[in-house]
Amino acid sequence: MERKTIVITGASKGIGYAVAEKCVREHKDLQLAICSRHEADILKAKEKLLALNPNASILAMKCDVSDRAQVSRFAQTVQASFGVVDVLVNNAGFGMFKPVHEFSTQEFSSILETNLRGVFLITQEVLPEMRKRRQGTIITIGSLASKNGFAGGSAYCASKFGVRGLMQSLFLEVREQNIRVITIFPGSVDTEFFVDDTAQSIKSNKALKAENIADCVYFCYSLPQYADLSELDIRPTNPKG
Ligand SMILES: NC(=O)c1ccc[n+]([C@@H]2O[C@H](COP(=O)([O-])OP(=O)(O)OC[C@H]3O[C@@H](n4cnc5c(N)ncnc54)[C@H](OP(=O)(O)O)[C@@H]3O)[C@@H](O)[C@H]2O)c1
Repeated sequence: MERKTIVITGASKGIGYAVAEKCVREHKDLQLAICSRHEADILKAKEKLLALNPNASILAMKCDVSDRAQVSRFAQTVQASFGVVDVLVNNAGFGMFKPVHEFSTQEFSSILETNLRGVFLITQEVLPEMRKRRQGTIITIGSLASKNGFAGGSAYCASKFGVRGLMQSLFLEVREQNIRVITIFPGSVDTEFFVDDTAQSIKSNKALKAENIADCVYFCYSLPQYADLSELDIRPTNPKG
């Protein structure tokens, strides 16, 4: 298989890490760039990935996707190290769940800044070169919360509905440049996303595994460049089962 350059945000654990693991297992000749906010965690992820595929070139960087300067630095380092980006996986995100009247402005903004603005910032960094090459794939991890509101989910749903609107528009803007824009909408996935008590209570009995989402990401970008899956829902078959 030809050399691929793949960038994944929020890849120190959970879905992002599972996608990175899928990539290093599937591609002998891989250039992979991963980031998260905590340097020690992302470097540890890099070590684990290299143990799976010592031939992979892996760039692991601390980067908060909500911060324009950090995102630019990350994108510039990726470009200097690897050149072009074939696949961007917008995965970094988090949730906070409580009624609207209990949210502070700062909490509300922080969710939108990571989950929505972060997707915009990194996408904007990789787009010019993809447009120039008339090639590339942008995959974003939305959520079924991109399509359905629920009690306690106001800020998270607002961010994820926003992601869907952003990506539906981008899809129309760049499809004539042969760039694929794909959004995956998972239901509950068993990750550290649900560590706090409120989040835990929202999680359904049965959850998907992070590897299931990684398989979807891999499937989407492995289709021929002329095939764009555009939107994909994945949920537990029987959440009560
Ligand atoms: N778990 C679910 O049920 C579920 C369902 C649907 C969609 N999703 C979406 O899937 C994505 C991944 O979630 P997950 O379940 O894998 O959560 P997770 O296990 O908590 O992992 C989140 C990852 O994102 C990183 N991250 C968080 N904020 C960041 C920021 N501002 N900049 C850079 N990295 C950041 C975290 O590392 P640091 O904390 O070190 O930054 C971590 O690597 C999110 O977008 C989430 O909304 C999850």
